[in-house]
Amino acid sequence: MDPESTVNTIVRKVDQINPNPDDVKIAADIIKDGGTVVFPTETVYGLGADAYNKSACRKIFEIKRRPLDNPLIIHVDSIPSAFNLIDLDRIDKRIIEKLWPGPITIVANSRAVVPDIVSSGLETLAVRIPANPLALDFIKASKTYIAAPSANLSTMTSIVDSSEAISVLNGLVNFIFDSGRTFFGIESTIVDVRGSMPHVLRPGAFTSEEIMQLFGRSLVDPEARGLKEPNVLVAPGMKYRHYAPDIPLYLIEDLDDLIDFCNMRKKNDFVALVSEEMSKFLHCDTIIIGSEDNPYQIARDLFPNLKKAENSGKSFAVIQSVREMGIGLAVMNRIRKASIKGPLPP
Ligand code: TXA
Ligand code: MG
Repeated sequence: MDPESTVNTIVRKVDQINPNPDDVKIAADIIKDGGTVVFPTETVYGLGADAYNKSACRKIFEIKRRPLDNPLIIHVDSIPSAFNLIDLDRIDKRIIEKLWPGPITIVANSRAVVPDIVSSGLETLAVRIPANPLALDFIKASKTYIAAPSANLSTMTSIVDSSEAISVLNGLVNFIFDSGRTFFGIESTIVDVRGSMPHVLRPGAFTSEEIMQLFGRSLVDPEARGLKEPNVLVAPGMKYRHYAPDIPLYLIEDLDDLIDFCNMRKKNDFVALVSEEMSKFLHCDTIIIGSEDNPYQIARDLFPNLKKAENSGKSFAVIQSVREMGIGLAVMNRIRKASIKGPLPP
């Protein structure tokens, strides 16, 4: 048996909004001792360790089986802490106060000496202040900064529910906050602010429209929309396969094509992930991804719905596109990355 799978994991039910300080202290003490803690943020669950403890951070990579050249986000609980880590001098402080706490990660030149394993040796760091009372209390009580990727194993979809965190990570980590579902269900937006305009490396829960409004300008790469291969020098982690569900998933972007495919296929060997509105036109097995009027709901339930498709017993799944605005941009990025490029099964 893998020696890593013999860890005694403490699992505590803790409210995300009114966290019990005793439970938070247990988790914080584990961090101080060089352990690993799974905690909710407003986006997805994170798998955290002390950002200044090299061997603790190494455990994250071992547990997740994450390639070492994929750096970690550092989670802090205050704007002054963020300033300690990265050079934010060029950004108006009033803008920063509107970003954080919130589902946005800023990439900027590093000002701190964190172990290379956290930054993958890059001269930049990715930092964020999560908008989640439990996460903030936990970071504060740890009296350090928390390096944390999403809590899923590498290549899997991110974990948005503590029941999944427990089934995947029990026996591998030291502590799991059993705190139910996360708010957004999709990861933070990653923005590189070093250039003349903020550059969205990964769309996420903080919308590009909001970034545009705050900064007056912004750039979303075709790479960030999942339409083109990423620039690995800027965002090394982007080259790896992400969000791969355990069932072949095909995106059918054109809604008429989707209707034709679903209604004309003779075999009942697939399931269609579609909106409430779309399902009315289809005569096949469906998983409802939400209403097109509520893209936040579609985002929140996206990964659990991919899990439902995995458990459907079908040979493959098809999924519709959603409007690429607001959080829909991040939803489409995840769908593109989760789906197979190639012809549909005959
Ligand atoms: O919502 C989130 O962002 C969640 C929660 C836990 O905070 N975290 C998360 O972490 O999604 P992760 O590791 O799954 O994704 C972080 C991405 C990776 O693709 C990584 O390559 C990129 O951030 N990243 C980290 N440091 C970077 C840097 N200095 N420059 C560019 N990209 C960086
Ligand atoms: Mg991840």
